[in-house]
Amino acid sequence: MAGVTTVRGGGQPQGARVPLIAGNWKMNLDHLQSIAFVQKLAWSLKDARHDFGAVEVAVFPPFTDLRSVQTLVSADKLPIVYGAQDVSRHAPGAFTGEIAAEFLAKLDCTYVVIGHSERRTLHGETDEVVAAKTTAALGAGLIPLICVGETAEDLETHGASAVPVAQLNAVLESLPKGTDFVVAYEPVWAIGSGQAATPEQAQQVASALRAAISERLGEETAKATRILYGGSVKADNIAGFMRQPDVDGALVGGASLDVEGFSAIVRYQKHVGV
Ligand code: 13P
Repeated sequence: MAGVTTVRGGGQPQGARVPLIAGNWKMNLDHLQSIAFVQKLAWSLKDARHDFGAVEVAVFPPFTDLRSVQTLVSADKLPIVYGAQDVSRHAPGAFTGEIAAEFLAKLDCTYVVIGHSERRTLHGETDEVVAAKTTAALGAGLIPLICVGETAEDLETHGASAVPVAQLNAVLESLPKGTDFVVAYEPVWAIGSGQAATPEQAQQVASALRAAISERLGEETAKATRILYGGSVKADNIAGFMRQPDVDGALVGGASLDVEGFSAIVRYQKHVGV
């Protein structure tokens, strides 16, 4: 991917960062449904002559779907990549119910989502756990997609950037320069609420996150790292986010469960003027 130069919506040069549109299915679609979904998505994008080199497409199914998705993607050589929604921080061993990073790598996962707000809130994941999971993912050759974001209360008390930047800094401390990772800025108040951040809000936080990466890991790593926006992204609001210079894609929840809707989000360049 490095070295590919694309011109994004609004004609802004994007340098070497290939936009990534990722669908986080959360706990939806079983393994049979996952096969039908990925097949239809690939057909829809092929029909529309989507350029996968210009906009990368990823799906994040539940663990139990991954083997089916792997089999389909590899047999049909589909240009869709995939990953898991979580990973254990531990190496294989006596950890009932956990999934090791190396198991995901064996299933040819490219990415793994780490620190989603639903994990932080519902499963008590701390910054320390998120950092440990990131290290485990990198050790197995996976690209961590690290989620950060503030609650409505944080927004009111600390402003938009403070909490996401602090959450990211807690992970950056343990990363070497040149690490290949992706950041998703997902304001908790925008997730599943139908009330997305404005493109300007997303840009403001994405720019602060990039500055934090630059400070800890240097400018080169900061320039190469993709920062996604997530939270009520739909086909009719994606273009505004993608016009922002520091927003390099989207992590889509609810709207990623509809093939045509998700396909329209992937093809945002066709409706950038919307
Ligand atoms: P929605 O797109 O449903 O708001 O979810 C966003 C999200 O949490 C993606 O990880």
